[in-house]
Amino acid sequence: MFLNKEEELMLQGEYGSGAKIAMEIILKLGDYYNAENTIEIKNVQISGISYKNLGEYGLDLLKKFSDSKVRVPSFLNPIGFDLDFPTFFTDDNNFIKGQMEILNIFRSIGAQQTLTCTPYYIIEPKFGDHIAWAESSAIVYANSVLGARTNRESGISALASAITGRAANYGLHLNEGRKATIKINFDFKPEYFDYAVTGLYLGSKIKNGIPYFQGLENNKDALKSLGAALNSSGSIPMFHAEGITPEYFSAISDSLEIITLSRTELEDFRKSLIYSVDPDVVMLGCPHLSKEEIKNIAIFLKNKKIKHGKELLLFTSRKIKDEALDYINEIKHSGARVFTDTCMVVSPVQEKYSVIGLNSGKATYYVGRDKKIFFADIKTLLEMVTDEN
Ligand code: F3S
Repeated sequence: MFLNKEEELMLQGEYGSGAKIAMEIILKLGDYYNAENTIEIKNVQISGISYKNLGEYGLDLLKKFSDSKVRVPSFLNPIGFDLDFPTFFTDDNNFIKGQMEILNIFRSIGAQQTLTCTPYYIIEPKFGDHIAWAESSAIVYANSVLGARTNRESGISALASAITGRAANYGLHLNEGRKATIKINFDFKPEYFDYAVTGLYLGSKIKNGIPYFQGLENNKDALKSLGAALNSSGSIPMFHAEGITPEYFSAISDSLEIITLSRTELEDFRKSLIYSVDPDVVMLGCPHLSKEEIKNIAIFLKNKKIKHGKELLLFTSRKIKDEALDYINEIKHSGARVFTDTCMVVSPVQEKYSVIGLNSGKATYYVGRDKKIFFADIKTLLEMVTDEN
């Protein structure tokens, strides 16, 4: 892979040992994927930063970069607890200490403490922007809804991009890497929750590639949910939605295989994932809730209270929480709790409960590995844990 003078200097250690390792990572990736050169990127999203994921081994690795500074705006994924309520999530002091050490390293290298998987609510990338994002749900949203360009980075390769300001130029950064590989349509009109079920089902069915969907609506929350699920049960960093994805018209060819999904097929799949219909807790916000989603939950919870013995936990970013403060206050009035900085997957919170109600395909994929789950639409879930006031 061709390197310019500055990149050569980074590789030689002229910018410090962290930048040297970072450039080595970019070079290795570039060589592996036959990239001809690097590309400058606008911003970075670094995932895998919960102490639950990193542990001591990851923390040691991270320390190798502590003499570095990020060159582009760099956002962080959720961590292992809400910074305002750590003990709600864990009573393990080592966990809290380890997590704070991770955050301090990121602070010292200049990463922004956004702690959300929805960085596009903080800075929305523009069509054609090259970025390096590692959060799997955000990658799909950026590529498919916004038309920005990112590969499916790992936490460590995203960190390397943050420090060098560059990514190897291959895959989804190139036009030819963004062509659709399979066509998907529906024999019914999918509604909001169908997007999560479709993503989970299709990801496990086709595993990889770039689906081209016909019949989706331009509902950004539903598309967020679809992408998050697709890139969990499958390795699918992008889809095209006809009439929605900015470059959809140049992605399709006549020779593609077609899959037609029916409501029966999706409903049978959803039912196959359910182990109990009596959740003791409902958790919403995977990916983190948007302002619109919070508003709709607040409207539902008006004049309702959480049932005795049940809990409702919501997850969002600090930015959205600040913007939706009136709705959040209404939600809290019902007895539900709203958390920031973390989520039901990257924190240890799931250990406290027996059966977890979820409307997210991605959370169902991960939480369902260890816990009994009830996977259903948001209205059904909210009705199960609330009473009239
Ligand atoms: Fe976000 Fe956690 Fe889901 S990081 S996408 S809420 S697993």
